[in-house]
Amino acid sequence: MQLKTVENYQDMSMVACSIIMEKVKQLESPVLGLATGSTPEGLYKQLIEQYKQDNVSFQNVKTFNLDEYVGLTKQNKQSYDYYMRENLFSHIDIDLANTYLPNGASADLDQECIDYEARIKQAGGIDIQVLGIGLNGHIGFNEPGTNFSSRTHIIDLAESTRTANARFFDSLEEVPEQAITMGVDTIMDSKEILLLVSGEKKAEAVSRMLEGEISEEFPASILQKHPHVTVVGDKAALSLL
Ligand code: GLP
Repeated sequence: MQLKTVENYQDMSMVACSIIMEKVKQLESPVLGLATGSTPEGLYKQLIEQYKQDNVSFQNVKTFNLDEYVGLTKQNKQSYDYYMRENLFSHIDIDLANTYLPNGASADLDQECIDYEARIKQAGGIDIQVLGIGLNGHIGFNEPGTNFSSRTHIIDLAESTRTANARFFDSLEEVPEQAITMGVDTIMDSKEILLLVSGEKKAEAVSRMLEGEISEEFPASILQKHPHVTVVGDKAALSLL
């Protein structure tokens, strides 16, 4: 596990951007695993900026997102599908047909999980997966207690996660109760992982992830076993290490 300590959120985003750009330039048909939430917004802004300056193209890139809320359609402004178009895809030269998110509005969610796994496999697997971390140690939407051998599945969101994410909705009641997420094992299959973390609020989670016991009660702790993880964090987030 490689740890890169940076000054602040802006620097975290810039370092992450250069790691992703390097990967995109190096590979013929790169497959990126992407995340949502507040943490990667700065990374996406930087990537857009680099694209506008002609420093990178996404024409040959495929992307797979970690997760999506159950019951929200692509048109719903709170869906992760919408978030990705707003924050990245609409501003770069990626072919939208090469961008994949689980369909949380599918009539057959179990089949959707199977199909999502198959699509990742067909693309040759994920070259680099961007991750954030939830306060309770969730990665994607794999909440505490999720089996380490899980593949893409439906999960009941923890109340603490719904509360943390309520800031994106008009009220807590509107936050869906379930999500569809890549499993822990799906994430661990990525060839490389780039975990981003910023702010004092995340410090305890980061310390448990890196120095705590490896346990399904704290899903991110499994990353200690992944052969190629880079953590880019600001001083505040890494302050308890
Ligand atoms: C969300 C997402 C995760 C994200 C995490 C942290 O619920 N499902 O993929 O990494 O929680 O979010 P944030 O970056 O907003 O703190």
